[in-house]
Amino acid sequence: MRTFDFIVIGSGIAGLSFALKAAEKGSVALITKRGRSESSTAWAQGGVACVMSGEDSFDLHIRDTLTAGAGLCDEQAVRTIVTEGPSAISELMSLGVHFDVRDNGNGASELDLGREGGHSKRRILHFQDATGLEIETRLLESIASHPSIELLENHMAIDCITTGKLGYAMQNSCVGVYVLNEATGEVETLRSDVTVLASGGCGKVYLYTTNPDIATGDGVAMAWRAGAAVANMEFIQFHPTCLYHPEIKSFLISEAVRGEGGILVNERGRRFMEHQHPQKELAPRDIVARAIDAEMKRSGAKCVYLDITSKPPEFIKSRFPTIYETCLRAGLDITRDPIPVVPAAHYQCGGVKTDLFGETSLRGLHAIGEVACTGLHGANRLASNSLLEGVVMARRAFEKITSKLREPVDISLPEWRSGSVQDADELVVVSHNWDEIRRLMWDYVGIVRTDKRLKRAATRLRNLHTEVQEFYWNFKVTRDVLELRNLVTVASLVVDCALSRKESRGLHFTLDYQERDDARFLRDTIMRRI
Ligand code: FAD
Ligand code: SIN
Repeated sequence: MRTFDFIVIGSGIAGLSFALKAAEKGSVALITKRGRSESSTAWAQGGVACVMSGEDSFDLHIRDTLTAGAGLCDEQAVRTIVTEGPSAISELMSLGVHFDVRDNGNGASELDLGREGGHSKRRILHFQDATGLEIETRLLESIASHPSIELLENHMAIDCITTGKLGYAMQNSCVGVYVLNEATGEVETLRSDVTVLASGGCGKVYLYTTNPDIATGDGVAMAWRAGAAVANMEFIQFHPTCLYHPEIKSFLISEAVRGEGGILVNERGRRFMEHQHPQKELAPRDIVARAIDAEMKRSGAKCVYLDITSKPPEFIKSRFPTIYETCLRAGLDITRDPIPVVPAAHYQCGGVKTDLFGETSLRGLHAIGEVACTGLHGANRLASNSLLEGVVMARRAFEKITSKLREPVDISLPEWRSGSVQDADELVVVSHNWDEIRRLMWDYVGIVRTDKRLKRAATRLRNLHTEVQEFYWNFKVTRDVLELRNLVTVASLVVDCALSRKESRGLHFTLDYQERDDARFLRDTIMRRI
């Protein structure tokens, strides 16, 4: 057993921002399940929403966030995160993060603020179309060789260790984590009174997603198993515009492309957002994704098209170099051709329920970033609010945790016990079950839902759960089995939350209850393990 002052699970914006601060107060184990930069953060394109111009105001950003959230945002959370944004951004800049600037017309430079769906003002700080990579790179540089941070790559957190499960007669608390070291295949026991989940989202639960492979919902599944409350998992955000291409999976075409004038057209070249919403292509994401879904179902087409060809080629190449180059490699010149796009699972608006300091309902366990549900996003996240949330909440969690640090309680944790053999059948069953979960979630729990499809999904998931548990308990654990176990748990949480919401709101749209029902459902969906 190794003991640390802080265990941080995840090396995206939330985990790195927290670890960097925590390292000034004590020893940090920074666990990340693949290479250090593998995260949604590194893939973020559009940027960070933040009030940075005199033409904007906190009230407008708050109003836009509340409008997108369809009545379910926690207004206090929105106000706090929005108003603390500018100072968190200054901190990122002081670590060397660059955001694009432009000439203000008077010979001086000012931030080049982008526009995205649901925003009434230009307020997206960006670095070309690779903002997340810029942030991830600078944060990783800042933590590199920090003497108090032990970065454990290719280490996968399996489960929280709780006093309840150990049989201690005290308030149930998280006192450490079991972690699979992929290099040795051994499970290590890490002890700390402070465990911070910063493990990102769960896009891989769906067949089509913009998310990287790490996004298997591990944090939500771990917190759930440990007894922490989980909220609002029915609100899965589908990004309207993922590149539709046979060889390139999961490549996002940023909303910023629409922000700079890109229009959506169908297979006959007809624009279809004009009659859907006053903001047309820049309507909130749930509306655009549903309109595309309806257009594809109506026409039977496999995709729609995003057309930015009205803009000068030089502008497109300099503002969207990553998108331009990637599409060009796929044989598509976006300065001349419309881009084939489809919606894909993108963001988990719900998650481990926390307060405004990242505290979960389980003592000692904190959650920040996409894994958490603070109340900022409600039923639908406003574009580019998540990087903002990650960096602000890391700081808030750090301040609260370190304001009440105590000497660690003297507890000895048992070593992990698992089966020692590998099952010969494992590979095929694991990959089959992975595919089955992702396809059934796509087909039955997608953009448009019905009770019948949700119930069918629930039944299949129950069977899959039994099969996966058998692997988990009887054989040596591998990353694939552990991820599968988490996927099935998270998929079930999405379905159970969706089944319990008998109305349509934000990202949860069901044909059986097409109206919003404030009298019964103006509340979070909270799930706790019985
Ligand atoms: P992540 O950045 O996803 O990091 C999670 C970390 O946890 C990873 O290091 C992962 O390996 C690790 N991990 C996971 N499970 C385990 C485990 N069991 N054990 C150990 N480690 C684990 N948001 C915006 O605000 N603006 C944007 O422009 C934007 N663009 C996006 C574009 C794309 C393509 C995608 C996918 C998302 C985008 N988002 C955007 C959303 C945003 O990027 C994420 O919500 C945010 O980066 C999440 O940060 P995080 O630190 O919470 O998690
Ligand atoms: C994008 O660039 O379209 C992604 C923005 C986001 O998900 O917040």
